[in-house]
Amino acid sequence: MFGRVKPLDAILATAEKKSLHRSLGAFQLTMLGIGAVIGTGIFVLTAEAAQKAGPGMMLSFVIAGFVCAVAALCYAEMAAMVPVSGSAYTYSYAVMGELIAWMVGWALILEYAVAAGAVSVGWSGYVVGLIEHTFHMDIPNMLTRGPFDGGMVNLPAMLIASLVTWLLVIGTKESATVNAILVAIKVSALTLFIVLSVPVMKMDGFSPFAPLGFSGISAAAASIFFAYVGFDAVSTAAEETKNPQRNMPIGLIGSLAICTVFYMLVAAGVIGTVGAQPVYGPAGQVLAPGSTALSQQCAALAASGHEAVTCSKEALAWTLREIGWPQIGNLLGLAAGLALPSVILMMMFGQTRIFFVMSRDGLLPAVFSKVHPTYKTPHVITILTGVFVALFSAFFPVGILADISNSGTLFAFAAVSIAVMVLRKTDADRHRPFRTPAITITAPIAILGCVYLFWSLGLETKLMFVGWAAVGLVVYFAYSRSRSHVGLGHVEVHEEDEDVPPQPVPPI
Ligand code: ALA
Repeated sequence: MFGRVKPLDAILATAEKKSLHRSLGAFQLTMLGIGAVIGTGIFVLTAEAAQKAGPGMMLSFVIAGFVCAVAALCYAEMAAMVPVSGSAYTYSYAVMGELIAWMVGWALILEYAVAAGAVSVGWSGYVVGLIEHTFHMDIPNMLTRGPFDGGMVNLPAMLIASLVTWLLVIGTKESATVNAILVAIKVSALTLFIVLSVPVMKMDGFSPFAPLGFSGISAAAASIFFAYVGFDAVSTAAEETKNPQRNMPIGLIGSLAICTVFYMLVAAGVIGTVGAQPVYGPAGQVLAPGSTALSQQCAALAASGHEAVTCSKEALAWTLREIGWPQIGNLLGLAAGLALPSVILMMMFGQTRIFFVMSRDGLLPAVFSKVHPTYKTPHVITILTGVFVALFSAFFPVGILADISNSGTLFAFAAVSIAVMVLRKTDADRHRPFRTPAITITAPIAILGCVYLFWSLGLETKLMFVGWAAVGLVVYFAYSRSRSHVGLGHVEVHEEDEDVPPQPVPPI
């Protein structure tokens, strides 16, 4: 089962050829992390977390942030040692063999493509709210929400997913300057929210603190984990980092800590002003976020003039409007509308890169790694990914997509944490630019943390994951196994840096 391993030296032979300039310091790494992390999670899923945990969601943010931090430290050791594309998939191939690598790559489809769908839906919620409030018009829910959410099809989400796909096909890559501007926009929007909401908080909003008990807090942590996804962008920059042993942990833990503080303050602002108690059904039953029952109950509440934040698709803008800042609420909507597409771009870019590497290893059809003659981008796989992302975002609610994405991410993080420990035993002498601190404690905590969060996901999500994994196994044994280059004995050492398709064209 573990037989087909892709030798680490063959993988590294590719990486050694590209000697990227070590230019990133702790500050830039932290910025990179914040840029990749802040997105739909805090802007939109705060409402879902409130529905699952009530005010106790503040604890959920801490739990999810902590699991990410320990997993990030393990991830960073691998990323610094095997600095090539494909992230968790490539590391697993080298350490635990092809089958596990395939399963990790298959799970990463959930992490990236489904997450891109979730962020597209989040974007749609804010942009629709912004248009409705600015132009005092009512866009029918039928065209702006999926069928589980009281609508039919989410056209704006499809539109943004298609636009990002087009940008990727023509070779757009986000430049450091654009990233810095978007970080500034996101951080300013959240800061403005905190400044306007926290001073007018009332303590009664916090009680009862945990209406659905600790299981509610755990369930919200499993969903809100999505708000931290993306920090692997920092780990994968290991190769370009000055003094990684010092700067990596600062960049990773620093960006996660800053995000956690922001998230907790934002959550406190919501809880203390508009209240964040879950919405219950007519018989007092607990309603799941993203369910038809909740959307019906929300419609009933809206009709009686008692809207709740847990019903909002643009929780933070909604809160500002409720507490008397309608124009700033719109401005926050605009900030989300401008900044979220870059998160979609990064997610879809990550997805195409994984597919590219898996195709180059023979596990997926060769056409997936075909590069466009003019744009020099893997256009076939980019368009295919785009079609799926657009379909996910058209028909599913944001919370369900985020939870499914989390299941794949947690699986991949657990696999990497195991790989790091295994490699410390099997290849102890290899040079490690960054070593996970106290690995005998950190890695097991990361693995247990991932298992705990996975377990706290809803039953449907876990079943979806199992179903997805089963399909993955069928595809592997029916198609990939017999075509694998490693299996056929072709261990390639790429002469050039073929890892990443060339991405020249001007940055946005
Ligand atoms: N962490 C990213 C977000 O919340 C994925 O949108």
